[in-house]
Formats: sequence, C-alpha cells, structure tokens
Amino acid sequence: MKFFIDTANLDQIKEAQDLGVLDGVTTNPSLMAKEGITGADKILQHYRDICDAVDGDVSAEVIATDFEGMIKEGEVLAALNPQIVVKLPMIAAGVKACKYFSDKGIKTNVTLVFSVGQALLAAKAGATYVSPFLGRLDDISTDGLHLIEEIRHVYDNYGFETQILSASVRNTMHVINCAKIGSDVMTGPLSSITGLLKHPLTDSGLAQFLADYQKGN
Ligand code: E4P
Repeated sequence: MKFFIDTANLDQIKEAQDLGVLDGVTTNPSLMAKEGITGADKILQHYRDICDAVDGDVSAEVIATDFEGMIKEGEVLAALNPQIVVKLPMIAAGVKACKYFSDKGIKTNVTLVFSVGQALLAAKAGATYVSPFLGRLDDISTDGLHLIEEIRHVYDNYGFETQILSASVRNTMHVINCAKIGSDVMTGPLSSITGLLKHPLTDSGLAQFLADYQKGN
C-alpha cells in the first residue's frame, strides 16, 4: 500500500520523505489555508515546492465548480510538474473533467467520495485515484471502512485500474485496516505514519540491549 501524507506543511512533508516511506502528498484548499498559503501565485509556488520535496504524486485541487473552469485550472496545475495529480470534486462537472484529463493522459484524483456509486462513476471516467473519505464517514457513525471494502469488491469485479486512495485517514488503526482490506493508497497526517513505529516492547527491548552492551564494555 502506498503512503501519502495529507498536508500542505512542508516540514511535515520533508519529515515523512526523510523516513523513506513516503509515496506522495495530498492537499486540499482547507489544508493550504491552514498553512497560510493564499492567492493564486503563492498556491502555485507552494505546489512547486512540495513537488521538489517529494518523489511521488502530488494532488492539487481545483477550486472551480464548472467544467470550463476546472479544465482551465487543471491545465495550469498539471503544467507545473509531471508529479501533479489534478484533484476534482465528485460532482457532474468533476466527472466530466476527469474524463477530459484522463483522455489527455493527465493524472486525476476524484475527491469527496462517500458512496460506491460515486466510486464507480470515477472509475468509469478513468480516474487515476478515487478518494473515499474514511474518517468523515466514521465521524457521522457510518462505517467508512465498509465503503472502502465495497469499492475494492466492485473494482476487482471489473478490473478497474483506478487506485483506491483511502482519504480522511486519522490514525494508525485506519492505516492498518486500509492495508488489511487492500486499499491501494492511504493518505493521512504525519502522526498516522509515525504512530506505526510505536510499541512499548520495542522501547523496553532496545533499552535492555543497550544496558547489556554497557555492562560488557
Ligand atoms: C483528501 O484528500 C482530503 O485532503 C483529506 O483526507 C480530508 O481529511 P479530513 O477529513 O481529515 O479533513
């Protein structure tokens, strides 16, 4: 399973990249605003900086909600760097734009997906990635993981090549469960990745090894 980090924070992106396990980055307008990145020029420059900091795919979301606007914005974003994946919302114009970009060989990520039907449409439109939002479904007492399982089943039935990018991942159990059910990618905060390191037996075992080494020297 590929690991993407879901942030626009360059320090956190670099930390995940340094760990050697990062496969890409996802951002959204809220994450950009959280880092104080506002205005078209600054936003485009920030995407360039993110692409320079990582080796993999970088999802950059369009703001337009009409087809022509999405195409215009998406073409500017895609021209920034071959790593850019044009992120489109799951609305009719987004599906149409997804088909347009996939026909041109430009990578796409269809976002804000909350049902199997939406995931099916994204795959039919040739999306590179589909982003079901696991955490946001869990937030409203709906089983987000079950949705991802169902999408896996449907995609496998027909051999769709669209990769399931489990988004809105919030913690390490989300990551582990996504891996168990065969999600192709997960995107979450840095803590959902570094949290996987933690085990008290690792810490106590290492402390014991070091103490025993000291005794013999
Ligand atoms: C997906 O690409 C989104 O950026 C993201 O995963 C949303 O996560 P949230 O529900 O924690 O805001």
